[in-house]
Amino acid sequence: MSRNVLVTGGAGFIGGHVAEAHLAEGDRVWVVDDLSSGRESNVPDEAELHVMDIGDRSLDTLFDSVRFDLVSHHAAQIDVRISVSEPRRDARTNVDGLLNVLENANRHRSRVVYISSGGVVYGEPVTRPTPETAPKVPESPYGVTKLAGEHYLYYYARVQGLEYVAFRYSNVYGPRQDPHGEAGVVAIFGQRVLAGRPMTVFGDGEQTRDYVYVGDVVAANLLAARLPLGPAGTVLDQRAYNVATGVETSVNQLARAIMDAAGREVELERAPARPGELMHSSLDVSKLRAAGWEPRTALGEGLIETLNHIEREIGEQ
Ligand SMILES: NC(=O)c1ccc[n+]([C@@H]2O[C@H](COP(=O)([O-])OP(=O)(O)OC[C@H]3O[C@@H](n4cnc5c(N)ncnc54)[C@H](O)[C@@H]3O)[C@@H](O)[C@H]2O)c1
Repeated sequence: MSRNVLVTGGAGFIGGHVAEAHLAEGDRVWVVDDLSSGRESNVPDEAELHVMDIGDRSLDTLFDSVRFDLVSHHAAQIDVRISVSEPRRDARTNVDGLLNVLENANRHRSRVVYISSGGVVYGEPVTRPTPETAPKVPESPYGVTKLAGEHYLYYYARVQGLEYVAFRYSNVYGPRQDPHGEAGVVAIFGQRVLAGRPMTVFGDGEQTRDYVYVGDVVAANLLAARLPLGPAGTVLDQRAYNVATGVETSVNQLARAIMDAAGREVELERAPARPGELMHSSLDVSKLRAAGWEPRTALGEGLIETLNHIEREIGEQ
């Protein structure tokens, strides 16, 4: 059955892939994006793009003219450093903008897929891979607003009956990724290795992350659109799913894997550790696995896809 799907942030890295996948499923897709970090070229031709801030009143007009079955909320201020230097700017999009989307989705009874971040809401985790039920101790304003979003959704579900699922992504990488995002290091290292320039490693390079390929993230999104949600749960984590691999890769290992995927060696430059950086992160995906999802793409395979894309982009410049 064809559905009307609104992808906020659909001109961004992940939202663009999600929009494409919904179109491939036969859905009709609208994109709302202010192009602050996204690009028009990421929006598939068959989608209808509205260049608009998610906080704008004109969002009401769009919701009044189309009945959306699903709202895939990918728009966000995603830069941790901006959230630290300008917390109000971060909150304007991640809290105030979100509330504009939720008020509309609630009014029109649209199901919401909310994108949270496992990389930041758990803080420095005690248990790894970290399950959804672990304590949430965000250490940046970005982590705080992402978690606040989950609390707002929980309120709308419990008190207003809104249907939603929250995805806590780990570090998503793949073609078209923005070097400033949470897995930006893959894009940065990829560009460096293809240009034959050294890669910069902060600290001892033993800090670890959980890198999940964008194609697997898209598969989770398609599953979310179909998940029977039932009544609102009694705890926040009931509607939350980690989307990750459960595998930890250190920066040193990532640098090695990227050189292997590129078939090229470059030097590693060492720089002082960055204050406040999380040391380790990986997420337990048993819950989403039980719903039929699997992170299918091995790191080496995903890196080759990513490097091929960067190479094509360099060729087009
Ligand atoms: N990339 C990752 O590893 C990662 C990890 C965890 C969570 N996430 C979340 O996934 C989502 C997508 O991230 P991404 O990596 O694709 O980032 P991205 O920057 O490529 O995409 C975000 C999009 O939102 C748009 N946007 C920002 N503020 C807006 C506003 N006020 N109004 C309308 N549009 C606005 C941007 O122009 C951009 O196109 C975000 O919610 C992010 O927090 C990403």
